[in-house]
Amino acid sequence: MGLFSWFKKPKLAYDQKIFSPNGRLVLHVQLKGGRFFYSVEKDQHLLIAESALGIAVRGEKPLLHDLGVVRDYEKSRDETWETEWGEARRIRNNYHELAVYLAEINGKKRLFTVRFRVFDEGVSFRYEIPPQPEYQRLTIADEITEFRVDNNALAWHIPAYQPDRYEYNYSQDPVYELTHSVHTPLTIEMPSGYFISIHEAALYNYGSMTLRLNQNRALMSDITPLSDGMKAYVELPFNTPWRVIMVADTVKDLTINRMLLNLNEPAREDFSWVKPLKFMGIWWAMFVGEWTWAPGPRHGATTKHAHEYIDACKRLGIEGLLIEGWNDGWEGDWLQNGSKTNFLQPMHDFDMDDISNYAKENGVKLVGHHETVGFIDNYEKQMEDAYKYYASHGVHYVKPGYAGSMMTIRGRREYHHSQAGVNHYQRALELATKYHIMLDVHEPIKGTGIERTFPNLLTREGARGQEYEGGALSPSHTTILPFTRLLAGGMDYTSGIFDVTNATKRIATTIARQLAYYVTIYSAMQMAADRPRFYEKEYSKMYQFIKDVPLSWDSTLPLLGRIGEYYVVARKDRESDDWYVGAVTNETERRVRLDLSFLEFDEDYEAQIYRDGDGAHYRDNPLAFAVEQKKVRSSDFLDVWMAPGGGFAIRFKKIQ
Ligand code: NOJ
Repeated sequence: MGLFSWFKKPKLAYDQKIFSPNGRLVLHVQLKGGRFFYSVEKDQHLLIAESALGIAVRGEKPLLHDLGVVRDYEKSRDETWETEWGEARRIRNNYHELAVYLAEINGKKRLFTVRFRVFDEGVSFRYEIPPQPEYQRLTIADEITEFRVDNNALAWHIPAYQPDRYEYNYSQDPVYELTHSVHTPLTIEMPSGYFISIHEAALYNYGSMTLRLNQNRALMSDITPLSDGMKAYVELPFNTPWRVIMVADTVKDLTINRMLLNLNEPAREDFSWVKPLKFMGIWWAMFVGEWTWAPGPRHGATTKHAHEYIDACKRLGIEGLLIEGWNDGWEGDWLQNGSKTNFLQPMHDFDMDDISNYAKENGVKLVGHHETVGFIDNYEKQMEDAYKYYASHGVHYVKPGYAGSMMTIRGRREYHHSQAGVNHYQRALELATKYHIMLDVHEPIKGTGIERTFPNLLTREGARGQEYEGGALSPSHTTILPFTRLLAGGMDYTSGIFDVTNATKRIATTIARQLAYYVTIYSAMQMAADRPRFYEKEYSKMYQFIKDVPLSWDSTLPLLGRIGEYYVVARKDRESDDWYVGAVTNETERRVRLDLSFLEFDEDYEAQIYRDGDGAHYRDNPLAFAVEQKKVRSSDFLDVWMAPGGGFAIRFKKIQ
């Protein structure tokens, strides 16, 4: 039976509704006048008004008009699966699916399918293009996917196509202002009070989707182009990434949307070697100017410093150590030298054999570093050897970096988030998998849930992180991330800077808030980012929380949240009966009342509270903190105060 056997007499009208499993979310699909549309409503409130779907192919008329429906197919699924690590141990994947097989009624009679999945927590769909009678491959010139959202709804956005990739402060504007492309996840508060976030899942071999208003005032997919203006070169059959519209009644419910992971395939091989990691780094000392990446009198990555940091990891009970600036390429202006970086050649004062042996003897796992500066041609020439080199030194964690505003791929300047960039990140990930290497990607491609398939992709950056402190971050930033960037997966924010009053890198948070981040910003690789001396002596009381906090959770329960104002979340440890709470506020001080009913009924817990000290303020009194213990039960309430720019962290230790 050929692929074209379904090409019978197309229907010229089609109207179908698919309900989510609980019936509250409705997808409406229609074929009218030869065009194919969808809309989405929840509890009879329109979230996405009639929006067009189609694809433009180079040199041909777009697959948008003169369409007919050849057949449709429905199915349902309800399964629960276990994660290797993450914010929840078990995830339910429950949806109703509708696949609509479309064909042009005239001309070349080209074929494509739109497959929809309707979950209780949102709607997703993708285009599937089978081999066509006339061609086996094609060039996608554009994707015409509309998301027609009320233009008065409020969106939190960062600009696309900018030199610092995803590293911008969020702005909040009505949708009608989005005339320039913005990145996803794009979180929108609807006038009806519902929240949606538009994003994508399973981004492979395709430009990533940004969004912008079109002439019809609908948000429309703007797929990141290649340097020749095309969006993707693909072989058939080809499936686009899933287009995802997450939907929630309240903004805090948005933070536990699991559609991205559910829309990715399970891992195809054994990943039992993957393990989350807490690590320190020969790192922040460079940001505050004590040391340098470049060789010289203050070079950070020396054998001597590596020994000292390995000793510190052991003393402080931190499992991993990142070392940056160890290889040839950091001399002079490293941002310009990326075409010459050598990923196999340590600098003269860095003895890799000695250091890796010393780390091993002391039970410390090294985190390697590959700063490519986006010079992909130079990196890919060495990539396999570079991973082999690390693996042969027992290094099974690597932090690749892609600083620089564009990538150089096959001699062309390409966007990080173009098809060429996406394919590079994927080649690197697959090679890392081959050598059993786990990744913390900086300047990454955005998260689209592929860590379900590749659990060794432990974390990524992909937003403004702590390194922007010293002027470019305000306390509200980390009260926006949980509802925007973090919907796309974990982030290496590089938390735990206790030297908040440093003159070079003044941090716009209180010290207690640094602990909250370990709970409010999920990451399977968490850094204790400051220098070891800031975790000892007078700091050791606060440091205890960094030591205790888990990297993988059994479950996650958002307690309170308003975008840009505050976020409070409770998470249960995967390995014990303990719960943890993290809370952050913006520039406004706040007292929150925690309802402890999430704790196990009739059990006693010791609440170990790390909070802002009385009178703390991120601007002029950031070091005031208090650590206290209280006995609590699930019937209790706990009131905790947050300073302006402050926050708190609590461990609820079950008393056995
Ligand atoms: C930017 C990364 O985010 C940072 O962590 C790293 O230290 C520098 N690039 C140098 O690679």
